[in-house]
Amino acid sequence: MPAQFTINCDTSRFRLNSRLLRRRAAWLMRQNRVTNHEVSILLVDDQEISWLNNHYRGKKGPTNVLSFPFAEEMDPCLTTIPVKELGDIIISVETAHNEAKKLKVSLHDRLTWLMTHGLLHLLGYDHERSEKEAEAMWARETNLINQLQSSRSTQMTHLAINVDHVATVREARGINEPDPVAAAALCELAGAAGIVVHLREDRRHINDRDVRLLRETIKTRMNLEMGANKEIIEIALDLQPDMVTLVPEKRQELTTEGGLNVAGQKKKLAKTIAKMDKAGIPVSLFIDPEQRQVKAALDIGATYVELHTGRYCDATSEKEREEEYQLIASAAEEAYQMGLRVNAGHGLDYQSTSKIASLDTIEELSIGHAIISRAVFVGIDQAVKEMLAIVRDASMIF
Ligand code: PXP
Repeated sequence: MPAQFTINCDTSRFRLNSRLLRRRAAWLMRQNRVTNHEVSILLVDDQEISWLNNHYRGKKGPTNVLSFPFAEEMDPCLTTIPVKELGDIIISVETAHNEAKKLKVSLHDRLTWLMTHGLLHLLGYDHERSEKEAEAMWARETNLINQLQSSRSTQMTHLAINVDHVATVREARGINEPDPVAAAALCELAGAAGIVVHLREDRRHINDRDVRLLRETIKTRMNLEMGANKEIIEIALDLQPDMVTLVPEKRQELTTEGGLNVAGQKKKLAKTIAKMDKAGIPVSLFIDPEQRQVKAALDIGATYVELHTGRYCDATSEKEREEEYQLIASAAEEAYQMGLRVNAGHGLDYQSTSKIASLDTIEELSIGHAIISRAVFVGIDQAVKEMLAIVRDASMIF
């Protein structure tokens, strides 16, 4: 846990969104390349910060932020920080609230500015040492805040919708409705960032006509899920989707059961990736959240991994769910740190999605069954919008 966040005051007056602050703290740490480090951020009231201000700095009254670096005299020009624990940042929410009102900014933006200021102190910046250092610190601070603000629109985890199950209903009657192509258009109109379809070898739901029409009509991004088999590879190369996701495929299974064993079939998968690369199609590998699979995906040149969330969704106890969540969180972090782009999906529903969407290492969620099931009762537009609201709420940092 890079930023240990503790709220030690009565926050009932302030309506604090601690998840949002946590995400911003994690973002700030990433921008400052201190992701393997720990920072403690403590939110207190004026009374507590006054005591600390007096005790440690001999100053009377409250202040907005105090920083206590563990290592003295850190050089802000160092590219690698030698200590793991950077120190403590203590912020008075009360003072931040008053300042926010004066500056006409939101409390969360003021707290973010104070977190930035505090973190830079921990990294060795000090505006009190000289005018030159004050300028350097101010410039870094402003730059970080500007970057955070301009990344606003790209920070929300994307929601890509899998419309296979619309085709499943069609195939139950063997006629031509409901049409997954129409469903995809409605999902996009409701705000989906992408459409996913799985063209299976046995064509049990999505068929060749669907993928051809979808390629022509999808306005966002088309992600073609597929097994790495010769016939489907040829179709994908011809179709040119925006990306492909390679999955294991068994004829007997009801749905994709586990992740790909990338480590065990590097040669075969590397060949498929090379073919897609040549055609300019980025490849994602659907894997279980395991370090060796992440590493193997990187080794053979995948652009993305999609982490299998099935075991997390199917967990039967809170303890098991938390363990599965931790596996996803650490596999996502490892993949992200290695430079892979990270998606996740399988089994996510209106209860389980929020926690996964709040992982800021994850770029896109691929969700199908839960949304299409709800659409039967409330309509596709509402089903998509309800899921989008969950994802937005969990993932936005602005
Ligand atoms: N990701 C992959 C790789 C899948 O195979 C599937 C199921 O088709 C999904 C995501 C979506 O899973 P669900 O339909 O359970 O949301």
